[in-house]
Amino acid sequence: MALREVLQFPDPRLKRVSEPIREMDEALRELARDLCQVMYDEPGIGLAAPQVGEAVRMIVVDTEWTKEDEDEEAVPAERNPLVVVNPEIVHREGVIVWNEGCLSVPDFTADVERAERVTLHGTDLDGNDVHEQAEGLRAVCFQHEIDHLDGVLFIDRISRLKRSLYVKKRKKQLREEEEEGQSRARGHGL
Ligand code: NI
Repeated sequence: MALREVLQFPDPRLKRVSEPIREMDEALRELARDLCQVMYDEPGIGLAAPQVGEAVRMIVVDTEWTKEDEDEEAVPAERNPLVVVNPEIVHREGVIVWNEGCLSVPDFTADVERAERVTLHGTDLDGNDVHEQAEGLRAVCFQHEIDHLDGVLFIDRISRLKRSLYVKKRKKQLREEEEEGQSRARGHGL
């Protein structure tokens, strides 16, 4: 079981704007470790603190890593998580359309338009500058995770029609889960 639960749409906590981190402490270091663990467990290639209910500006990204445990022939890539505190996109260039998904948006992917190349600024856990130019998947991932810090999900960046179709589907799914839970509870006889 994962250490921390990943919040899922429509949890209102996903819509909060996260606070900048002023000072690093042990709790925040622990949060960084937990974010990495949850990202690899799920698996995902990025995770933002608000997705586990912490409204602070911290993201983790590892776009090289893929879970290949099921394929015994494959050699798992080395884990190389990038933790960024107070990340910001300071430069963006070009346009790319990427089919995105999100651990907080179950059972859905959609094409999203993003900048193709970005420059990311922030710090690591020790306050050292992080400065990275990225393109393609990694650039998309930075933009997607920073969106989470501003309470924005990728479904907020697709057409209103596509979004409303997903919201409908998700509500139906939640209703069914709830009904299932209730019938299970009745089965217990009290
Ligand atoms: Ni996400």
